[in-house]
Amino acid sequence: MKTLNSPTAKRALDPVPLLDLRRQYESIRQEVLAAIARVCDSQGFILGPEVEALEREISAFTGAVAAVGCASGTEALWLALVAAGVKPGDSVITTAFSFFASASAIVRAGATPILMDVERGTLNLDARLVRKRLHTNRPKNLSAILPVHLYGQCADMDAFAGIGEEFNLAIVEDAAQAIGAAWRGRGAGSLGTAAAFSFYPTKNLSAYGDAGIVTTTNRDMAEHMRRLRNHGSPRRYYHEEFGWNGRMDAIQAAVLRVKLPHLAAWNEARRQHAATYDKLLAEAGLVSKSGVSKSRVSKSTTGIGSTSPADSPVQLLERDPHATHVFHQYVIRAKRRDDLRAFLADRKISTEIYYPLPLHLQPVFSYLGLNEGDLPVAEQGAKEVLALPMFPELTEPEIRRVVDSIAEFYP
Ligand SMILES: Cc1ncc(COP(=O)(O)O)c(C=O)c1O
Repeated sequence: MKTLNSPTAKRALDPVPLLDLRRQYESIRQEVLAAIARVCDSQGFILGPEVEALEREISAFTGAVAAVGCASGTEALWLALVAAGVKPGDSVITTAFSFFASASAIVRAGATPILMDVERGTLNLDARLVRKRLHTNRPKNLSAILPVHLYGQCADMDAFAGIGEEFNLAIVEDAAQAIGAAWRGRGAGSLGTAAAFSFYPTKNLSAYGDAGIVTTTNRDMAEHMRRLRNHGSPRRYYHEEFGWNGRMDAIQAAVLRVKLPHLAAWNEARRQHAATYDKLLAEAGLVSKSGVSKSRVSKSTTGIGSTSPADSPVQLLERDPHATHVFHQYVIRAKRRDDLRAFLADRKISTEIYYPLPLHLQPVFSYLGLNEGDLPVAEQGAKEVLALPMFPELTEPEIRRVVDSIAEFYP
């Protein structure tokens, strides 16, 4: 395997961050400060016209019918689940390979998460397994399925829409990592009953604090979520059901409105960086050059269909031809992953593991009764995945330095 030309000794010492928000801030500083000043001048800090304008803009951007701003992506998931009809005593199927909130929001809605395994190629919830389970052993009181668009690539929404119809289940998209992503050209957030987005500062569209939004294709659900995020109150000091304080701050909405017009270009830059990684990793002989497109015919849960020969030190995740990926993360599967990560850290290259322990093995979910070996694809993923630096302002020399260093690690 050949090592790419090493950059200068000086550059070899420059850190490559996983994400550098300062670069983005420098490019929009004046607009952001003006937007924050606008809110301060108005002295209206919670909900109000900035949040309403953001809701209209996100609704148009995603292709949904309505959007409801709220306090976080976690809150958005809870709102979506409750408005979709999930109630105490129900169960909801979701992936075992996601951020904790995908499952904890189900618990907060009073339901039981049914954690299931993922596709080997994309690490998204495996629709074939879900369908099989529904035919053979449908969980008691199942009311919804919550697929997660992991790393910015939509789960198989043809399959989940079909399952939703066939089994009369709500489909709630966890689109926290996928704003701007699409499935067959339709935006994430418009593909199911409702969808949750996070604007946590590391996300592709990020606030200056916590914030989130729910989109839906159903106006009544949107009105219900507006009440739920405000203590279940249709008008001041009158309460018809138990809601919560899940409201969005006006300052966050104002910042997000500055950023939203840039999002398509930022997502495109991420796609370009992903293509550069793909190319340089292949040129370095670290992965197969055969491409990373998912075959829609030979999809498998057992490891067949991976994108590099099994003996490659690095494997790329599959890209579904129906999905427009927004590369919230650029994730590889790596042999000796933890040693590689330490080696890169030594060279000041930051990486992250999303996620080191699948949800069914988290101590807090031991009551679900799942054990090691029960969801083998998620468990293997947790041992191999490594997210490399990815953000719109990343430079090609930085990507080269990352790939050079990976090539150095695997002699
Ligand atoms: C897949 C997924 N779901 C839900 C969330 C929760 O979002 P937040 O951190 O805004 O509550 C996140 C964010 O980390 C996420 O990545």
